[in-house]
Amino acid sequence: MSLDLQRTDQVHALLANRFSPYAFDPSGLVDDHALHLLLEAARWAPSAGNSQPWGFLPVRPGEPDHARVVPHLAPSSARWAKDAGLLVVALTRRYVEDSDILYSEFADYDLGQAVAHMGLQAQAMGLATHQFRAFDLEALAAELRPNPGWEIVSMIAIGKAADEPPARRERRSAVDLRTAPWSTPPA
Ligand SMILES: Cc1cc2nc3c(=O)[nH]c(=O)nc-3n(C[C@H](O)[C@H](O)[C@H](O)COP(=O)(O)O)c2cc1C
Repeated sequence: MSLDLQRTDQVHALLANRFSPYAFDPSGLVDDHALHLLLEAARWAPSAGNSQPWGFLPVRPGEPDHARVVPHLAPSSARWAKDAGLLVVALTRRYVEDSDILYSEFADYDLGQAVAHMGLQAQAMGLATHQFRAFDLEALAAELRPNPGWEIVSMIAIGKAADEPPARRERRSAVDLRTAPWSTPPA
């Protein structure tokens, strides 16, 4: 099932027009105000028990921490992510520090919602996003040394897209979303 990008009557234009670019314009800077709004959007995401088990390291080209992150990108993501005006390292807090006690069984679920909020805020500001896992997780964690209980999950490249949206974006059908989990769909 495909999404026709010309038909904005399908879903909201922010959703219909979003795509993950494979090229960013290095001149597309993300200023302090834009960064503030992106973090604000993440901040207001819902979470289990309002636990808010998310954390972020935002880094921009020219900043010292950007130079600490970029060497750990995989070759596949380095091609485009290093040109983004902003890279965000996304972390979740699964465990209470220095213990095996689960902080929240929904930590990753909640982080995903916060990142989705950030992505739609970016889209509303004319910025494109590309979430990715193509980096050396162990090496990045060793470099950044998050506090106990915190785990790096993913990264988000944010900036000015430098490639065209694909003509069609393929997705499973809405019917399949309702039927796939069941051998006999509940009546
Ligand atoms: C958790 C997560 C990890 C992802 N990892 C990668 C990745 O390592 N490399 C990549 O090119 N895209 C990655 N993506 C982007 C997806 O491939 C992309 O969202 C999907 O193909 C749908 O395309 P669209 O975002 O343009 O609609 C990731 C997305 C998510 C949510």
